Amino acid sequence: MKPAPSPLHPDFKLGVLGGGQLGKMLALAAGNWHLPLYVLDSEKSFPAGRVTPFFTEGNFKDYEDVYRFGRQLDVLTIEIEHVNTEALHQLEKEGLTIHPSPAKLDIIKDKGAQKLFYREKGIPTASFQLFDDEQAVKDALDSGALSYPFVQKSRTAGYDGRGVSVITGAEKLGNLLPGACVAEELVEIDKELAVIVARNAAGQARAFPAVEMEFNPKANLVEFLFCPAAISPELEARAEALATEVMAAYDICGLLAVELFLDKKGNLLVNEVAPRPHNSGHHTIDSCYTSQFEQHLRAVLNFPLGSTRMKAPSVMANLLGAEGHTGPAVYQGLEDCLAIEGVHVHLYGKAVTKPFRKMGHVTVVDESLEEAKAKARKVNKLLKTVSGG
Ligand SMILES: Nc1ncnc2c1ncn2[C@@H]1O[C@H](COP(=O)(O)OP(=O)(O)O)[C@@H](O)[C@H]1O
Ligand SMILES: [Mg+2]
Repeated sequence: MKPAPSPLHPDFKLGVLGGGQLGKMLALAAGNWHLPLYVLDSEKSFPAGRVTPFFTEGNFKDYEDVYRFGRQLDVLTIEIEHVNTEALHQLEKEGLTIHPSPAKLDIIKDKGAQKLFYREKGIPTASFQLFDDEQAVKDALDSGALSYPFVQKSRTAGYDGRGVSVITGAEKLGNLLPGACVAEELVEIDKELAVIVARNAAGQARAFPAVEMEFNPKANLVEFLFCPAAISPELEARAEALATEVMAAYDICGLLAVELFLDKKGNLLVNEVAPRPHNSGHHTIDSCYTSQFEQHLRAVLNFPLGSTRMKAPSVMANLLGAEGHTGPAVYQGLEDCLAIEGVHVHLYGKAVTKPFRKMGHVTVVDESLEEAKAKARKVNKLLKTVSGG
């Protein structure tokens, strides 16, 4: 393979697998440095297709498509875990720089392998057992090896809560998910936190401030996210230290978003990670010295990492497709929201809205978190994604 030109040289090619909203926001951040971002995803009409001309239509789960796309690049990264890692292993053998490394991606994309990794590394996580299928879960319940309540997670099929089922008793067995799974103890959660850590090849690592997530109970999706989290400085330090420890254990470059549970006894447990920009870091675009997207670019290109300091407290709200609406997306209440000080609207440009689909997000910054929360709740009532003409 030819020696790579230095990043920011006009011939340098950085690619990303996935052209959804994360790919789009990465491309926008790359634009500040006039760095072209090469994207692979199935349709140019996807969010990233609007902001980069270097869009290849193809399937990131297909060996040939990923291999052919990767061959032309100097550095390759991802915006989604569920990509063809066999092609990535081959590209890596041929000398391509890939962040995160394919071997670690193999672990992270399988929730069962992730949990085994934490057990092996002594990283605190909810206790768990692995099962091959639904029947094996039922057999374990019958034999007493597993007891209610537990949280069942599909090992490879889930995202945004779709591969997670809370089984509180025998009457819920109809909700068991098919296929290989993890069964975890049901944690008594006090708060859900996330810490995003960046690391570059030089070994420099930096954590963003911890954020607190509030879920939409119906969709099992993050509805609001608060930064700073309402936790003590001592707990903040513990959360950052744990996330940094997890990053060191994986030993990868780029971003690692570490989802944490704070249980009712004050323990911090690692729930799961994502080795890429993450929903829990969207607020950084408007509220931190460096956005998570720029930080990911710095990390995968081995540039000095940016400051993760907060400029202002913020609330991020996901803009989810309204219930009962499927069709061409229309944004109601947009102008009213834009008139409010500190409101930053980010629309992903997905042509079709569906109930609970992530259509965009809004970040509200203010001098106090309380003010930002009040505005975010107002925005959430005003701004609706519906289907229309
Ligand atoms: N062991 C658990 N105990 C209690 N709640 C859990 C547990 N695991 C997951 N959850 C809840 O389900 C949500 C989604 O689970 P997660 O594993 O993060 O899947 P996803 O890939 O959909 O984000 C979590 O954010 C949390 O609210
Ligand atoms: Mg999660």
